[in-house]
Amino acid sequence: MTDLLIGDAAALRALPGTGAGPRAVVMTMGALHEGHATLIREARRIAGPDGQVVVTVFVNPLQFGPNEDLDRYPRTLEADLALAAEAGADAVFAPSVAEVYPGGEPEVRVTAGAMGARLEGAHRPGHFDGVLTVVAKLLHLTAPDVALFGQKDAQQLALIRRMARDLNFPVEIVGVPTVREGDNVALSSRNRYLSVADRASALELSRALLTGKAAVAQGPAAVRRAARAVLDAAATAEPPVVLDYLALVDPADFTEVADGHTGEAILAVAAKVGTTRLIDNMPITFGTGERS
Ligand code: PAJ
Repeated sequence: MTDLLIGDAAALRALPGTGAGPRAVVMTMGALHEGHATLIREARRIAGPDGQVVVTVFVNPLQFGPNEDLDRYPRTLEADLALAAEAGADAVFAPSVAEVYPGGEPEVRVTAGAMGARLEGAHRPGHFDGVLTVVAKLLHLTAPDVALFGQKDAQQLALIRRMARDLNFPVEIVGVPTVREGDNVALSSRNRYLSVADRASALELSRALLTGKAAVAQGPAAVRRAARAVLDAAATAEPPVVLDYLALVDPADFTEVADGHTGEAILAVAAKVGTTRLIDNMPITFGTGERS
């Protein structure tokens, strides 16, 4: 399994392309689960038997705030290597912090702009600058034709698409739908922090999104109202669901959609359950039909 492992940038640069098919990259912070495996399998499908699939595993300090979970973030490299191999990876690039940031924290960074200051960005200042900076670096280091990201982190995906376009990265960005447990809870590396009671309360996030989505025919205001009612009730659960935000936004720029909005939107939620902060979202398409 360890023969997949590449620890330093020089060895990564020396990794020959196959020349016969595209290189597809899946970037992760490790603690891999079925959501990551789905991205890797999709990368394998896109790369084909002659292409190459590279997975990166790097817990990026730059995207964690001072009071966030950098120190306790799960690190499970042996299991990650096994899962990546099983899902079809050809190589796993798992560099040290010193390898990625040899001069310490970088002076020059990518800034995420106005879209990066909304929702997640408002609650985690600097988070998306840290994400985009490391994604830019990992794109340079892995030089892929295609890079795959999950819709689970919808704002991150939108910002990475925007960065690739605004800064002319020669890569195709592919989004992959959110992978959920049987009860609809979105898979996340942070779910392993949840106690049994936390897990029961965490269920209310996806329940709120599905309840909101069910009101699509009545328009945006009804969707917001329906989702909000579930979260209001969940605020008194034990443990409570402590809401950061519930928002119904335009996928292009993450601004709130107007009540008359038609077409695509994203219903997004972030909340704390116990000591764990969780996010989830669902795409919703508003038709042009009459609303009651
Ligand atoms: P991480 O949270 O490990 O997620 C790695 C990739 O897996 C992201 O593209 C994320 O959206 C996707 N993913 C996570 N859970 C998923 C699920 N349930 N269904 C589908 N895809 C899922 O996101 C990051 O790491 C980092 O910010 C990173 C992009 C690696 C930069 O450090």
